[in-house]
Amino acid sequence: MRKTLPRAALGPLFALATAAHAAVMTPPVAPPSVPFTKATVIAGAKFFADHCSACHAVSNLRYKRMGADLGLSKAVITKSFMKPGGANYLKGMRPAMTQAEAKKWFGLPAPNLSHMARALGPRFLYTYLTSFYWDPKRPSGWNNHVFPNVAMPYILAPWGGIYTKNGKLLVPGRETPAVFDRHVADVVAFLRYASDPSVFERRAIGRYVIGAFVILSILAYLLKKDYWRDVHDKEAPGGAQKGATAKSARKG
Ligand code: HEC
Repeated sequence: MRKTLPRAALGPLFALATAAHAAVMTPPVAPPSVPFTKATVIAGAKFFADHCSACHAVSNLRYKRMGADLGLSKAVITKSFMKPGGANYLKGMRPAMTQAEAKKWFGLPAPNLSHMARALGPRFLYTYLTSFYWDPKRPSGWNNHVFPNVAMPYILAPWGGIYTKNGKLLVPGRETPAVFDRHVADVVAFLRYASDPSVFERRAIGRYVIGAFVILSILAYLLKKDYWRDVHDKEAPGGAQKGATAKSARKG
């Protein structure tokens, strides 16, 4: 192909392919900038606990740690986040479904999402979660533009609506596209936090570390000024003269 097609033709072809791809992507590929604050993470965590943890584990994120990072009490965590039966406050987020059940129903277990945001990036996760479409040929009835033949059923359909492959709305969701996008961004923010739980702690400590560096820099500058004052004094005309007088005195 490289040999037969002139290079100049590749540009327009690529543009055409991109335009065709964009036309079938509904909602669009470009995600909004995902807000990343404790509030959005908590909202996403709540949605995740209510809906996604039916199938997915986040085994590296302990409920206790989540409470400490997000400023939530044990009572709140127990009541609102520890949904699946057998969930333990001192252990990681577990799914309600066993691996064997997931294999039986979806053909493969739902992946552990502990490091998914690090591996795939928040932008991809957002795009993945908004790129499902109705495909009656699939066993689950769902397919995905960025993950062809995906095994995950589109559990966000009641909120976001059901679209065909070409982006035609079949059944509207209960949320407007803007609210839905925000909702998905919250879930993505939670997954981002889950793959990097020390992020808020780092941010809080970071402020003091930078402050300490600023103070140290000022002290170092004052110290430097003090040391160099002696050198400058010696180099000053008065100092030089003094040196010259001493030299001539020695000579004489
Ligand atoms: C009914 C079970 C089920 C529910 C509920 C579910 N998922 Fe999944 N999910 C799956 C399965 C099964 C896969 C594996 C798909 C595959 O490999 O084909 C998957 C895959 C994924 C992936 C990996 C995609 C990739 O590119 O590798 C992400 C991310 C994900 N799910 C996020 C979510 C989020 C967020 C929610 C909640 C909004 C959710 N899932 C709810 C079953 C589920």
